[in-house]
Amino acid sequence: MALKASTRAMEEWEEYFAQNPAPPGHSHHCGDMEAFCQRHVGHHPIALVTSGGTTVPLERNTVRFVDNFSAGTRGAASTEYFLQQGYAVIFIHATSPSLPSCVTSTPGSYWRPCRRGRAACCSSHHNTLARCIPSGVSTSRSRLGRLLWLTFTSLSDYLWLLRSATQCLQRLAPKALLYLAAAVSDFYIPQDEISEHKIQSESGPLTVRLQLVPKMLRPLVSVWGPELYVVSFKLETDEKKLIEKATAALRKYKHDLVIGNLLQTRRDEVTLVTERESSLLRLTEHQKAERIEIERLIVEEVCSRHRPERGHAIPLAKLC
Ligand code: PMT
Repeated sequence: MALKASTRAMEEWEEYFAQNPAPPGHSHHCGDMEAFCQRHVGHHPIALVTSGGTTVPLERNTVRFVDNFSAGTRGAASTEYFLQQGYAVIFIHATSPSLPSCVTSTPGSYWRPCRRGRAACCSSHHNTLARCIPSGVSTSRSRLGRLLWLTFTSLSDYLWLLRSATQCLQRLAPKALLYLAAAVSDFYIPQDEISEHKIQSESGPLTVRLQLVPKMLRPLVSVWGPELYVVSFKLETDEKKLIEKATAALRKYKHDLVIGNLLQTRRDEVTLVTERESSLLRLTEHQKAERIEIERLIVEEVCSRHRPERGHAIPLAKLC
């Protein structure tokens, strides 16, 4: 009997992955994530923390790109607090030109990020990296083994990592959570429209038409990681829109928690929005004077809602 060919049309997100191939080294990253999960399953709950902004190249040999705003502070500080809460963390962070080259050139190592978006420190190559460690940063070895730090630059790098990490963690549900603090582009130039070489200014003013990136939260929640606890962030600049947009995102993608923040006040307050309620988390003047970071409050709250002691982990299978 002849096999009936599938007639299902590709979803937009599937088309995106079909048209934008995995970046070099991706299977290496998948191996790192798989090994990390194998090591921690049954010992620690795991958090995936994404951080920093994605770039969208305007040229294939990239000289220019469009960036999304994020200093990476939210993700780096939150990672520290998840480690303090006993989680193992896969930290997926945008590369930054300000990081020392020894940091950016060794993806897959185990690092501990520093606060306030500063350079990174410590890994299994501790000695060679000692010069990268800013003074005053603690280098507790007990936490190093619970951190896997991977980096991305472009939107496509990020989305490939996000999908693979989510599929990897799905096998550990409900003992894993996603904490999506990266600032992800809504626009990009498709592969078949992107200029091969540097765009020349002699041709006059540049008009660029950016296409919409499919919202990846949809397949993330419904296909890649349906049993994971998913926290997304919503960034706005207009206070009047924040709760409305956060609530709409939650209804649309049906995940667990949206953390709304305004660009101007994101260091001092956020609003946690669930299906049932919204609640404000704000640093008091006393906490500010004590230099307590808002991420500490956010992570404590997220951990108490996630309650990884619920249920049992599902055995890991071969991934990626
Ligand atoms: O790094 P800092 O300077 O400390 O700042 C932290 C922060 C402000 C960047 C962070 O707290 C934050 O709000 N991050 C999310 C920013 C963002 O991308 O918001 P958005 O409204 O554009 O997207 C909302 C959600 O949709 C996000 O979870 C995003 O992952 C998701 N998304 C976005 C684009 C896309 N194509 N697919 C998606 O699924």
